[in-house]
Amino acid sequence: MDKKIRTAVIFGTRPEAIKMAPLVLELKKRAEFEPVVIVTAQHRQMLDQVLDLFEIIPDYDLNLMKPNQNLWSLTSEILMETKNIFEEVKPDIVLVHGDTTTAFASALSAFYARVPIGHVEAGLRTFNKGYPFPEEINRVLADAVSDLHFAPTEGSIENLLNSGIKEGILNAGMDNSYQDGRRIYKTGNTVIDALLYTVKKDFDLSYLGLREDLKTILLTSHRRENFGKPLENICDAVLDIIKAHKDIEIVYPVHLNPNVRDIVFKKLDGVERVKLIEPLDYAPFCALMKKAHIILTDSGGVQEEAPSLGVPVLVLRDETERPEAVHSGCVKLVGTNREKITSTVGQLLDDDNFYNSMKMAVNPYGDGLASKRIADIILSRFS
Ligand code: UD1
Ligand code: UDP
Repeated sequence: MDKKIRTAVIFGTRPEAIKMAPLVLELKKRAEFEPVVIVTAQHRQMLDQVLDLFEIIPDYDLNLMKPNQNLWSLTSEILMETKNIFEEVKPDIVLVHGDTTTAFASALSAFYARVPIGHVEAGLRTFNKGYPFPEEINRVLADAVSDLHFAPTEGSIENLLNSGIKEGILNAGMDNSYQDGRRIYKTGNTVIDALLYTVKKDFDLSYLGLREDLKTILLTSHRRENFGKPLENICDAVLDIIKAHKDIEIVYPVHLNPNVRDIVFKKLDGVERVKLIEPLDYAPFCALMKKAHIILTDSGGVQEEAPSLGVPVLVLRDETERPEAVHSGCVKLVGTNREKITSTVGQLLDDDNFYNSMKMAVNPYGDGLASKRIADIILSRFS
């Protein structure tokens, strides 16, 4: 094949960067591809942390993040800015990831530009429009305009088929050879590629000053549906847990979103055995997940990573688009009810049988080869 496949890879937030980085590295290794990395910088500092780790220098950096940005302006700016870049780059295919505003707006923009779209981490669903908000609709819309769907699990394939994707529209700009072929592929999730790349190096966490005589509970929370009262409940549960259990400390790398920070620092700053820290680089964060006795989180990515590390996870949400780890037993949904969070953590700390029943290493999300599969599939579709 003479002409390289010009592959625009677009991302903007921390989790997209972590999950697209292994794919960018894979495409860069292969002579058949000409990857063009476009970052919206929907996140700035938290994106740069990941770019540095994977040594990725974007070809285009839209630098869009604004303090406490809103969905309307972010969406419209991504649409306009990517239009200009697509006109300049003329990509053969655009790859977007997951369910952020960057993913949805870039996919829509590529559709308007009549460029074929590959959706990485396609097919996740809660089938509840407002939960998570706005991610459920972002991924439904990104799936609707995409041509190739890289689904992480059987469940996500089923969701795509149930969403009518099999019969869905085909991008008018696509080569005819695309039109009869498969559009949905099971690839595994590239998050496992990133995790395996990162955890193999043992990371010295001594700079965090964690107490060796205490068990570590790791907490992350940033979802929009949890802003306000639910996040206050989570913080109150932290206070209850700290009071009831003298042998633990809770470490919370606090997301940079001011809607999170205002509540968390007001409620928890200065509390004994509660460590509020800045978002960690991915390598120390992986090491901290590995070291943790229990993880409390509303993060999507952490729900996928922690099962591989064999750490019990309590999810601070009522619904999840990642049911595989729940079915396997190492992840439980506890929602944002103060008593429920406190009592389930208490049960994990006091009941060894219960703890051991959740402490199992399972890998429902992949084997570390998702990026290779995605590159192979694109190559096969273009050759
Ligand atoms: C976004 C995604 C969410 C994803 C999350 C991962 C949307 C609508 N939301 O939510 O799906 O789970 O990222 O973390 O796409 N900020 C900084 N520096 C940073 C990052 C954020 O200061 O590096 C602050 C800014 O004030 C920014 C705000 O956080 O305006 C919100 O960022 P935004 O991307 O709009 O929403 P997230 O809650 O981060
Ligand atoms: N993460 C990180 N540093 C932190 C917290 C999380 O590197 O301080 C990583 C985590 O391992 C996962 C990703 O960020 O890969 C998840 O990002 P986030 O929770 O912000 O987004 P979500 O996955 O919920 O969309």
